[in-house]
Amino acid sequence: MPTPLSILGIESSCDDSAAAVVRFSGSSAAMLSNVVHGQSKLHADFGGVVPEIAARAHAEVLDHCILQAIKEAQTDLASIDAIAVTAGPGLIGGVMSGVMMAKGLAVGLGKPLIGVNHLAGHALTPKLTDDLAFPYLMLLVSGGHCQFLVVHGADQFERLGGTIDDAPGEAFDKTARILGLPQPGGPSVEAMAKDGDAKRFRLPRPLLDRAGMDMSFSGLKTAVLRTRDQIALPGGDLRQGDVADLCAGFQAAVTDVLAEKTRRALQVYLDLAPATPALAVAGGVAANGAIRAALSSLAADHGVAFTAPPLALCTDNAAMIAYAGGLLFQAGHQDDMTLQARPRWPLDTSQAAMLGSGKKGPKA
Ligand code: KG4
Ligand code: ZN
Repeated sequence: MPTPLSILGIESSCDDSAAAVVRFSGSSAAMLSNVVHGQSKLHADFGGVVPEIAARAHAEVLDHCILQAIKEAQTDLASIDAIAVTAGPGLIGGVMSGVMMAKGLAVGLGKPLIGVNHLAGHALTPKLTDDLAFPYLMLLVSGGHCQFLVVHGADQFERLGGTIDDAPGEAFDKTARILGLPQPGGPSVEAMAKDGDAKRFRLPRPLLDRAGMDMSFSGLKTAVLRTRDQIALPGGDLRQGDVADLCAGFQAAVTDVLAEKTRRALQVYLDLAPATPALAVAGGVAANGAIRAALSSLAADHGVAFTAPPLALCTDNAAMIAYAGGLLFQAGHQDDMTLQARPRWPLDTSQAAMLGSGKKGPKA
């Protein structure tokens, strides 16, 4: 195993084309570059990610991202020791763009190839940023993902539960659309909610009455839609104060559901008697102040450390793929040219596969 070990990571599973270099020296790892080329402008007119447009855009810019990542890392392609690429889950055309690019580089440069699960990349990020000890509890909460994972090791994940329909970020985005607020919905709903009365509209807390850690958020957006129709002025306009109250009510409902389900997940996790217990949260929704505060105080109540990686590493990026790939490579894992792009790839294969596909791709 070369030391230091330099891994090039490639990510293209949704609407971000990304490349990064992570260098391992023994058990420690440093991010040398992290280039993300977002596509949101290309999809803005369509109200969601258009898979075919995404795939073509990845194919067009990935080589530029890779060269920039190599340059920013002040290295060269010949000095890279292995190539890690997201091989799923995600939008199949985009994943294929990345996998084909990685295969071409691996053959051309004569370097090892490692296929990485995108969700493993997210789930292992707190280890890269905070060097958390296994096992830790992870809440992955974004526009396309929502699940609780006990992370036992680089290739060992236990899924405790997750959404059975929409992801919370998707619900924030749909709520913003219903209320005429700009996308992405999370930040605009959060900003409006600051001035709102969360108690005025009592929105449902789906699945709280059911045991376990599964969640549902699609009914919540229907409740927002129904409430909006009740309070709209003749002509359809909404008063600013009403929008603020509805945003606050919606955010409180999401926060309550996430907090209660996290409380249950913490109980299951703490039964494992981890030596240094930690709760980590990742994904775009982790940027929400109310949600973050609720999770952080819950962790404090249970005597568990709380960590959230910086936003640039919470949202889709290739540093997490390079890091996860490096851990797998150090453990002796390697792929060959039969590596396939997988639209669905559950992290915990002992669990039944989740059905349903969010705006940002399969939830797995
Ligand atoms: O992780 P991410 O960048 O992309 C994936 O979904 O993979 O997450 C984006 C999602 C969007 O749905 C966005 O509305 C949501 O995260 N988001 C937020 C906030 N900032 C971003 N949701 C709630 N509050 C926020 N402050
Ligand atoms: Zn993601």
